[in-house]
Amino acid sequence: MSRSTVVIAIDGPAASGKSSTAAWVARELGYRHLDSGALYRAETGRRLGITDPRSAEVTAAVSAVAQMPEVRAAVNAELRRAAATENVVVDGRDIGSVVFPEAQLKIFLVADPWERARRRLHQRLERSATDAEIAEETRLLVERDASDATNTLQARDAVLIDTTYLTQEDQVQRIVALAQKV
Ligand code: DC
Repeated sequence: MSRSTVVIAIDGPAASGKSSTAAWVARELGYRHLDSGALYRAETGRRLGITDPRSAEVTAAVSAVAQMPEVRAAVNAELRRAAATENVVVDGRDIGSVVFPEAQLKIFLVADPWERARRRLHQRLERSATDAEIAEETRLLVERDASDATNTLQARDAVLIDTTYLTQEDQVQRIVALAQKV
């Protein structure tokens, strides 16, 4: 199936930098950014009666809510509706494999768990984390990878980018360069 609008799919595990990278790529290209994880969080918040989708309660429950087939169908329909009329950069876990198998460009971001934990803590604490803090966060991230595993599906034709040793600007420029060829 070919598309009249462009879809760039960016998938990867928690704290791989998908959402911030997708937002930046979208800005560079003048496309709309669709954050599918945010839609799963919003639905989880609605079910729990919590308005802050970033709260710890939502984070604890979202993996299970995102496994409900009716929730996945609703989120996927919303993403497809939005992408029908404009060019988009969509980030998630199964965007290039399940939601938009016809996407013109598919990226799968990975990074070493310790580095993902370090980046996440740096963002949260606004200071360097200690090794003990990073070790604990790594444990939590690996646990989350396991609970999200059923919904994380790398497309066979995705370009794999390991960001462990890349700056965010480098990853954005790589994706923009690939996007300019589609
Ligand atoms: O990217 P994030 O951490 O905000 O995602 C929140 C949750 O939603 C996470 O548990 C994985 C799930 N998710 C999913 O199952 N499929 C997607 N396309 C995006 C997110």
